[in-house]
Amino acid sequence: MEMDEMIAEMQKRFKPYTEKEGDYKTMPEEGVDRKHILEAMSSIIEIENKAWETGHVSGAVYNGQTEHVEFTNKAYSIASQNNPLHPDVWPSSLKFESEIVSMVRNMLNGDSSVRGSVTSGGTESILLAVKTYRDYAKDKKGIAEPEIILPKSAHAAFDKACHYFDIKAVWTELDENYAADVKDIREHINENTIAIVGSTPCFPYGVIDPIPEISELARKNEVGMHVDACLGGFILPWAKKLGRNIPDFDFSLPGVTSISIDTHKYGYAPKGTSVILYRNSDLIQHQFYVNGSWSGGIYFSPTMAGSRSGGVIAGTWAALLEQGKIGYINATRKILEASDKTRAGIRKIKGIREMGQSPFVIAFTSDEVNIYQVMEGMSRRGWILNGLHRPAGVHLALTLRHTEEGVTDMFLKDLSEVMDEVRANPGEESGMSPVYGMAATFPEEAVKDFMRSIVEWMYT
Ligand SMILES: Cc1ncc(COP(=O)(O)O)c(C=O)c1O
Repeated sequence: MEMDEMIAEMQKRFKPYTEKEGDYKTMPEEGVDRKHILEAMSSIIEIENKAWETGHVSGAVYNGQTEHVEFTNKAYSIASQNNPLHPDVWPSSLKFESEIVSMVRNMLNGDSSVRGSVTSGGTESILLAVKTYRDYAKDKKGIAEPEIILPKSAHAAFDKACHYFDIKAVWTELDENYAADVKDIREHINENTIAIVGSTPCFPYGVIDPIPEISELARKNEVGMHVDACLGGFILPWAKKLGRNIPDFDFSLPGVTSISIDTHKYGYAPKGTSVILYRNSDLIQHQFYVNGSWSGGIYFSPTMAGSRSGGVIAGTWAALLEQGKIGYINATRKILEASDKTRAGIRKIKGIREMGQSPFVIAFTSDEVNIYQVMEGMSRRGWILNGLHRPAGVHLALTLRHTEEGVTDMFLKDLSEVMDEVRANPGEESGMSPVYGMAATFPEEAVKDFMRSIVEWMYT
């Protein structure tokens, strides 16, 4: 496929409205009628919502039940003017934020010495953790050339953090089950190591890393241990209570020194919140930004942003209260059952090979056909799955959307039929499959250049 064909495909996918709905390249002279604006928004978004409402999207919308969404929207709107940057105006935001931190820390077996902040999402929680370890290691140990150990399944946000904060990312191997290889981690610890990362579970395969072993290694070597529970932090504690075989992964392990956990995923909060927790005050003190000499006044901010949305923080607080422990347990039970059923089903589909074991993410590839063509075939049937790269694969992260009647059966039926179609037409490349194909074969720097120009094009 030629480059302009690829761009045309992306145009269809990412910019379908520019011609249909009229675009505002400049501000209208006079304000547009509110009703018209809302109708214009609804007319496009309602079409988009169909995909996730019917359970055709991997991850992305974790709850999506109408009454729940309406409730959190209401909570948002009550506090929509709140800005936590001004705790004197809105002490309610401080209350919501500190109670979110406290509830989450309790869920993760943290005692009262555990500290935390509400951030804008998993990436910000991770950026903050990495920056904190860098500053802590410089301050306490004089480490000037910091390194962080990242199993190859760790989220890209860690690499982004290394890129932003000038830290060396030391990538370590996975074992045959796609979990972090503890032996390889051990071999990469040195005097510049500031922290080791483990995921519970990782994004690509949904596999839970051996946190008890990694955290012991971290403890013995006196380095930080960050558990990335962004994806699974609101599932695993309840899965454990439901009798699933989930290893310890939280503050109950003495070597775990920080945890990122996303309220806006399986915490069922509105998009735009996550929590970063540290074992003690000494660590979080290295996260905060304070300025005692600025002409604009005494200035401090706990996280990356200055002003923040008090609305999403309020919505998050409301979601935690609305669900309660029983709500999360019930949701987790449904997701685990749907996941078990899906896994059992894909094992029966000829030509599919599972990539690792996970409680709620089904990652798979094929040794017979091009898996990206399978992803594309599923896309033609309305399924938006996540493509995995190096090695090639696809995953479905199950959410409450997939627990609705008939969704998993429909997924398995479509996947089985698509496998047959691709097997019958092995050379047919379409949609995003050539883009993945190119990314797999081109040198990394060339792929990065291509991606940078695509990102620019997207927002232009
Ligand atoms: C394991 C893991 N960590 C971090 C993140 C990043 O979260 P966000 O997209 O909210 O920044 C994700 C997102 O899916 C994830 O799965």
